Amino acid sequence: MTGETEPTRNINHVAVIMDGNGRWATRRGLPRLVGHRKGASRVREIVDLCPDIGVKYLTLYAFSTENWKRAEGEVAGLMSLFRRYILKEAKKLHENRVRVRFIGDRTRLDRKLIDLMASLEEKTAGNDHLNLTIALNYGGRDELTRAIRSLTEDAAEGRVAPEDVTEESIGFYLDTRYLPDPDLVIRTSGEQRISNFLLWQSAYAEYAFVETLWPDFSAAEFEDIVKGYSGRDRRFGAASA
Ligand code: IPE
Ligand code: IPE
Ligand code: MG
Repeated sequence: MTGETEPTRNINHVAVIMDGNGRWATRRGLPRLVGHRKGASRVREIVDLCPDIGVKYLTLYAFSTENWKRAEGEVAGLMSLFRRYILKEAKKLHENRVRVRFIGDRTRLDRKLIDLMASLEEKTAGNDHLNLTIALNYGGRDELTRAIRSLTEDAAEGRVAPEDVTEESIGFYLDTRYLPDPDLVIRTSGEQRISNFLLWQSAYAEYAFVETLWPDFSAAEFEDIVKGYSGRDRRFGAASA
């Protein structure tokens, strides 16, 4: 629980699929966007906790490449929420020495949001207390497609030969080139699927699927889950010691 904040072993990078905002609102007879706003307000407490329990990387799935299929009003509301979130949280994140980065395809986002994202990345580039990565218009298949496109461009121009293509070099073409692989992926809201999140990077991640809807998810629950996984024997294909 929060309070006894001792560092966890093994869990350096936690990635979260923040799901259940819509159901949280619908169950209360409220518009889905109220759920998204409530969900966004849960992030701060978890960001504050991570460094205290030894989590140096936190990656949050905020909007997928498939989420454009939603009603126009919900998508517009989410985009406006992301803009307001950056404006509202930038100062505190920077004061807390959090380095913020975004992954995903920015080209489909609006100019104002793209500029806010870039300025937050720039402002916090020298911070090292926590690495917060927000996946916005992110999809694992889209990321791999863009990576293969750049790789084949480099190959066509003679900068890359077939023997240069290794697991490591592929990693450099991904949006996550500066991140270690996630050790633990948490999904809230009871769904047990990965919905196109970090497909390449999660090859050996542990998965925790919890019933709590994201707007009800607390830092205390986050800490319990992380601690529950921190003693696991992760064998990466080898035999147990
Ligand atoms: C997650 O909550 C937030 C986004 C996908 C943007 P949902 O909006 O998917 O909530 P449910 O799954 O409909 O309850
Ligand atoms: C995954 O949730 C994406 C985010 C949390 C941003 P979805 O709600 O979009 O996933 P599906 O559609 O239930 O698989
Ligand atoms: Mg959902």
